[in-house]
Amino acid sequence: KNYPLNVEAPKSFSYVKRNIPNVTVEQRERALKSTHYNEFAFPAGMLTVDMLSDSGTTAMTDVQWSAMFLGDESYGRNKGYYVLMDAFRDVFERGDDQKRAINLVRTDCQDIDKMMDELYLCEYEGGLFNGGAAQMERPNTFIMPQGRAAESVLFAMVSKILGERHPGKNFTIPSNGHFDTTEGNIKQMGSTPRNCFDKQLLWEVPEGGVYEKNPFKGNMDTAKLEALIEEVGPENVPLVYTTITNNTVCGQPVSMANIRESSRIAHKYGIPFMLDAARWAENCYFIKVNEAGYEDKSIFAIAKELFSYCDGFTASLKKDGHANMGGILAFRDKGLFWKNFSDFDAEGNVVTDVGILLKVKQISSYGNDSYGGMSGRDIMALAAGLYECGRVEYLKERVDQCEYLAQGFYKNGVKGVVLPAGGHGVYINMDEFFDGKRGHDSFAGAGFSLELIRRYGIRVSELGDFSMEYDLKTSEQQKEVCNVVRFAVNRSQLSREHLDYVIAAVTELYKDRQSIPNMRITLGHKLPMRHFHAFLEP
Ligand code: F0G
Repeated sequence: KNYPLNVEAPKSFSYVKRNIPNVTVEQRERALKSTHYNEFAFPAGMLTVDMLSDSGTTAMTDVQWSAMFLGDESYGRNKGYYVLMDAFRDVFERGDDQKRAINLVRTDCQDIDKMMDELYLCEYEGGLFNGGAAQMERPNTFIMPQGRAAESVLFAMVSKILGERHPGKNFTIPSNGHFDTTEGNIKQMGSTPRNCFDKQLLWEVPEGGVYEKNPFKGNMDTAKLEALIEEVGPENVPLVYTTITNNTVCGQPVSMANIRESSRIAHKYGIPFMLDAARWAENCYFIKVNEAGYEDKSIFAIAKELFSYCDGFTASLKKDGHANMGGILAFRDKGLFWKNFSDFDAEGNVVTDVGILLKVKQISSYGNDSYGGMSGRDIMALAAGLYECGRVEYLKERVDQCEYLAQGFYKNGVKGVVLPAGGHGVYINMDEFFDGKRGHDSFAGAGFSLELIRRYGIRVSELGDFSMEYDLKTSEQQKEVCNVVRFAVNRSQLSREHLDYVIAAVTELYKDRQSIPNMRITLGHKLPMRHFHAFLEP
């Protein structure tokens, strides 16, 4: 028998509580001025709701906290290495959630023969995508402290290899949407990042603001991708990237069909297809709920298929690792990435293995491959968190929170809300918010986010003309910038009260939008990734 209610039953509760201090507008004004209106430098301890980033801000589960006590801080081959490698293989290759390695470590097994057979010397020694113990001979999976570390190791090596083969040449790296650090890393290797997506579709809002099925606005515009490859020549495109979900394009998901098609196009031209998989679980959830044929599949089964289309990936696991730290760089053993970037002699024997070059770079930058810049504790929290991320109940709660926030803005008449909401946050188009009255040199989106801090103690992130360096781009690249601010929803942290407070604040700020100042950059205008360090003034 059922006793239905018109509200949903709660899915989790918290034991850890943190109090939010009372802060006056005058105190926030003083802090804003002293930190040169750079929102990254504003003290988090003075905020009421911090929605700057969903990265590393997760409230971990009890299972993760308990896993941390099993952390092994050994310098070489700590137990966590095997556990995390196994979690990687479960999640990105096998479609499995059995947690075999974690459970072995948990039971404190003293039978060394068993441990050698089942953990230390068996297949777990191997990296991802190879089905065996190739990691010693041909390393292809690297633990990283965070996403940009994976990117910088990858792009430093790609640029070194390409630079030696074709000195002085400029390469193009297309994506459905590069994140700011990825763009920064690509630019620093002297190459050109490009974003191929459908902006018209992105800004569309249906009558009433609700889509029946998510339209996958984060998709790669595959016609644009192919035209771009033809235009610059496939020999000048070393990699094709797809970001899931597409953070730069308002956190919108990418369909399985689109991933398959982008992979097909890249392979047609002999180009490795790479994923930026920071929000892999959220993207898989959107596929499950919206794409025909996936409704009965587990998140892990969907991830298995999704990753089968790529030749390699980088990921910040500070997002869909449900963890505060972590990242990964991996490529398919003997796959296209490996073939294109390794050197072979005339008989086809390997002269230089790209995996070894990446490993050397990893060791010199972040530590040896057993821990890759992570503490043993963090490794265990991440291994447990990867499984937490694939729970449908958790993902539903999270995606529903984002939609609740977006609909709250929309119903109160705030213009420019991107619908449907993304998987990790809500975005507002600043051009629409300001009725098209502020130019690209006004940095009014930065003004919006600073004014939200000043009046209400809410921090969001500007991801538009200021952060994406509109004024420093070519006219083609400028068309690919979305002038937005993002309200990131932290994992497992916020309640409906937080969201209602934000909805009320933005509604009031919208009514008074003409008083939001434009911003001027007073220091660091042309330096890379300026939003992290530049000084501003209203
Ligand atoms: N790729 C994507 C799609 C990202 O969203 C991020 C980080 C990175 C790479 C870099 O990873 O921070 O671990 O070094 N995004 C955060 C954000 C910072 O707020 O969206 P990282």
